[in-house]
Amino acid sequence: MQITMIGAGYVGLTTGTCLATIGHRVCCHDIDAARIARLERFDLPLFEPGLESVMCQAVEAGNLRFSAHLKESLAGADAVFIAVGTPSAPDGGIDLSHVLSAARKIAPHLKRSALVVVKSTVVAGTARRVREIIARERGAFDIRVASNPEFLREGSAVKDFMEPDRIVIGADDTRSRNIMRSIYRHFSQAGVPIVATTTSNAELIKYAANAFLALKIGFVNEVADLCEKAGGDIVDVARGIGLDRRIGESFLAPGPGFGGSCFPKDTRAFAATGRQFGAPQKLIETLVARNEQRKTGLARRILKEAQLPPGSTVAVLGLAFKSNTDDVRESAALNIIPLLRDAGLQVTVHDPKASMNARRHIKDVKWANCPYAACDGAGAAVILTEWDEYRKLDLARLARSLSGDALFDYRNLFDPRSVAQQGLRYFCIGRMAPSARQRAGVSSLDAWNQRVAAPGHA
Ligand code: UDX
Ligand code: UDX
Repeated sequence: MQITMIGAGYVGLTTGTCLATIGHRVCCHDIDAARIARLERFDLPLFEPGLESVMCQAVEAGNLRFSAHLKESLAGADAVFIAVGTPSAPDGGIDLSHVLSAARKIAPHLKRSALVVVKSTVVAGTARRVREIIARERGAFDIRVASNPEFLREGSAVKDFMEPDRIVIGADDTRSRNIMRSIYRHFSQAGVPIVATTTSNAELIKYAANAFLALKIGFVNEVADLCEKAGGDIVDVARGIGLDRRIGESFLAPGPGFGGSCFPKDTRAFAATGRQFGAPQKLIETLVARNEQRKTGLARRILKEAQLPPGSTVAVLGLAFKSNTDDVRESAALNIIPLLRDAGLQVTVHDPKASMNARRHIKDVKWANCPYAACDGAGAAVILTEWDEYRKLDLARLARSLSGDALFDYRNLFDPRSVAQQGLRYFCIGRMAPSARQRAGVSSLDAWNQRVAAPGHA
């Protein structure tokens, strides 16, 4: 099938490339001509492991091309996917302007039998709005619109596309549903479950899925806070609950609060949708607030525990919102670094892949080209992203580089004992480091057990 992808971003580029890989003839379009020029030179404008090789193979096979010319990119297309950005609006809802603008622009150039497919994450009812907009531009309701949400994680997007848990097809008529089934026949023939439903249900599935995954992370972050107070260890607690198949082990790693281009905006949008339809999503509203508070709370903990005089330097390792991506959208670093600067501290930063993107958002910091250089002379080090490069840090060398003794590891990358052996004070998440345990004597959980075991205790 001939497919045009409108928007060659993290989602559109990966989706277009993978659709070409399974045999479709795909043209990826973008309004950013410079982005298209880079793609034509195989110079990817984003970091996504494995995407470049798959893209080169698809181009060489003649199944993938790029264009900044809209009419030309749409000529003859059987299906046109809209994968443009859907950022948060000021009220927390979704800014659909790019999606609706793309619908208006493509309308005149669609052949009568073409199916428009909304890939971007949009609120329930958007596919119907897109169909009305296209009909208004064409003067006829001759174009159908489907919804096909994505479940791609940055850093594993190619694998997530090629090995999906399920494919969700939102269509409001048989012909559209059949076209979508033929697009994804490669997967249905391999036994991948296809959820064929209405466009509104497909749009709701996407938001509900992201809201639930974010809720799982928010839950484990709060349990980690309890572990710190009660002397528990979140690593064991998360494993102990995650082995229950009804809970599942994934998305139970505590951290500095979720970021990215999806969870923060999608949870805000889901909450706004609940308010809009009179079905308030109170759990998600609380999650949104607690996630933002977590990032600022961790900054306050750094200031409190590091005990550094104004003018001291803190090294921040990790600017991407998670490992294996160069994306810094709503990363914890974007919240924490300004708070450290406001407290009068100097900040030196490092990230293996995201520094170029981060420079557009983070000012008044020093940029280091290696983690040890970032820590050189710093009073404390803070790890915010779980890069393998940081997991493999030589702690003895790190301790020698620092002028202070505090290591804040907000991804629980290290064994607390190995950090303590280097004479460092270790602040992690949901676990009591040896130094803290020694200061506290027995853990408060042990103390509680002793109390309840005492004779005569009710
Ligand atoms: C976006 C949304 O953020 C996400 O919620 C949705 O699920 C998929 O689309 P992403 O790919 O990360 O995700 O967006 P981004 O990386 O910003 O890429 C969007 C691309 O669309 C950009 O390259 C932009 O130039 C392009 N674009 C935007 C168009 O081609 N036409 C437009 O009218 C607007
Ligand atoms: C997410 C969804 O997983 C994906 O299905 C959807 O299509 C897009 O949004 P993404 O935002 O790329 O994908 O990354 P994800 O791996 O979900 O992580 C999101 C945030 O949660 C990151 O900040 C990450 O650090 C955090 N996270 C994730 C945790 O803190 N703990 C975990 O166990 C997992």
